[in-house]
Amino acid sequence: MENIKIITTEDGSHSLYHEGLKETYHSFHGALQESIHVFIEKGLRFWRTKSGLPKQVNIFEVGFGTGLNALLAAQFAIENEVHINFTTIEPFPLEMEVIKQLNYASSIGQDDLNNVFEELHSSKWEEKVEINPYFSIYKINTKLEDFQTNQKFDVLFFDAFAPSKQAELWTADLMQKCFNLLKIGGVFTTYSAKGQLKRDLKSVGFEVETLPGPPGKKEMVRGVVN
Ligand SMILES: C[S@@+](CC[C@H](N)C(=O)[O-])C[C@H]1O[C@@H](n2cnc3c(N)ncnc32)[C@H](O)[C@@H]1O
Repeated sequence: MENIKIITTEDGSHSLYHEGLKETYHSFHGALQESIHVFIEKGLRFWRTKSGLPKQVNIFEVGFGTGLNALLAAQFAIENEVHINFTTIEPFPLEMEVIKQLNYASSIGQDDLNNVFEELHSSKWEEKVEINPYFSIYKINTKLEDFQTNQKFDVLFFDAFAPSKQAELWTADLMQKCFNLLKIGGVFTTYSAKGQLKRDLKSVGFEVETLPGPPGKKEMVRGVVN
C-alpha cells in the first residue's frame, strides 16, 4: 500500500501513518499503551467486572485496521479463560505484507501471539472463525454507515480515525447507531474526548464519563447504556 507507512510510537510498538489523511492509526505516544488503556482496561475489563465476571463477552469494533485491539482481546480471553466473540468492521483491509512487519506480539512480550495475530488477519471475511477455544472473530468488509445486524453487543470499541480527519463517523446519528448496537449495561469506549462527542453521546441516551487518557493524552470518553 503506497500511502501507508509503518512508524514506531513512543512505547516501541508500531503504528501506521496514512499519508492521504495525514493521520496515524494509534496515538504517537504509544500504540500498545493506548489500546490497552482505552479498549481493554476501560472497556472490556470494566464491563466484565461490573457485570460480575461473565464467561462470555460479545465485542463490536469499528475499524479493524492493524488488528491490535483484536489481538489484545484475544490475549485477554486466553488469560482470563473467557469466551470472546469479536465482530469487527473494516472497509479498507490492510495488506498482509504490511501486517507481517508489525511488532505487536513482541511488544506485548509474548512472541507466541504472533500466530494468533496472523490468523486474525488471514481468517476469512464475512464468516465467524474460531481462532482458539476462547476467541472467535467475525470480520465484515463494510462501513459503519452501511453495517446492519440484529445482534446486540456488550462492549463497543469505537476506533475510527479522529473526528478532525473523519468527521462523518462521529455524528449524533452514528452514535445513536452505536447505542442501538449495545445491550442494557453495554459499554462504548473511545480515545477521543471531544465536547461535541460527549454531548452527542448524552443526547442519544448514554451515561457519559470522561476518564484519564492513556500516556500522553489527558482524557478519553466512555458511555454506558443504563
Ligand atoms: C484509527 S484506525 C484504527 C484501526 C484499528 N482498530 C487498529 O488498532 O489498527 C481507524 C480504522 O477505521 C477504518 N475506517 C475508515 N472508514 C471507516 C468507516 N466508514 N467505517 C468503519 N471503519 C472505517 C480505517 O480504515 C482504519 O482501519
